[in-house]
Amino acid sequence: MIEQWRPVGRIGMTRIVHASDLHFGPQFQRDAFDLAVEEINSLDPDLVVITGDLSEDGLISQLRGARDAIKRFSAEELVVLSGNHDYRSTGYLPFKRFFGFRRILEGDGFVLISLSTARPDRDEGEVGYRQGLWLERELSKRRGIRKIVAMHHHLLPIPDTGPDRLTIIDAGDVLQTLIEGGVDLLLCGHRHRPWRWSIEGMEIVHAGSLSSARLRGFFANSYNVIDLKGGEARIRLKVVGGEELDFKELKRARVDYLGI
Ligand SMILES: [Fe+2]
Ligand SMILES: [Fe+2]
Repeated sequence: MIEQWRPVGRIGMTRIVHASDLHFGPQFQRDAFDLAVEEINSLDPDLVVITGDLSEDGLISQLRGARDAIKRFSAEELVVLSGNHDYRSTGYLPFKRFFGFRRILEGDGFVLISLSTARPDRDEGEVGYRQGLWLERELSKRRGIRKIVAMHHHLLPIPDTGPDRLTIIDAGDVLQTLIEGGVDLLLCGHRHRPWRWSIEGMEIVHAGSLSSARLRGFFANSYNVIDLKGGEARIRLKVVGGEELDFKELKRARVDYLGI
């Protein structure tokens, strides 16, 4: 189903906040989350995209807590994807009830396509043959607009995250579909480590964790702010309660938050 969406109160510019890995549960950082909500609302985004792992274990109490908490985001549109943690303990059943799943969102000069990569009780992700074919078709229908795809798992390995066994299992096929389909921007979560790669004209932006204590290689909770204006996309990393960074500064900044 295609849903129409037009940004309100802004002409020619769309602001997207990309947050991920809230992890309601034992490692959830309430203070970081509360501060993040305040900051993000003050940025007045048109759209907030949450790329999965809203809960730690897929438990109903955790998913319910996340569902109630994200209502505090004042953005006109909220897109929520599932992560591998949400699908533990048969969490896929309450998750669908609590958050639904919007596959395509049409915006002002762009389309956002969400992929489902989480599978019940498995940590590794997969787009799968049928969803891959569907993605190929949807991308080929659209020309002359910016194409954004969001998924929980990461497509390429990320530095400072240790041995990587958890990219999607069909990463090569999906990468080919995205590149050939002219995707401009891919949004991922899962690794709790912000990072950005550019490959064949596609920007791959990974969000860190918004509110989990489990962080890798960059020791602060964070989210990404993406401004789309004309043909330009300005992408920045925002530390919760801290500075705004260019992704090029990440290597320097990765140790700045130790001990805070
Ligand atoms: Fe996570
Ligand atoms: Fe994950």
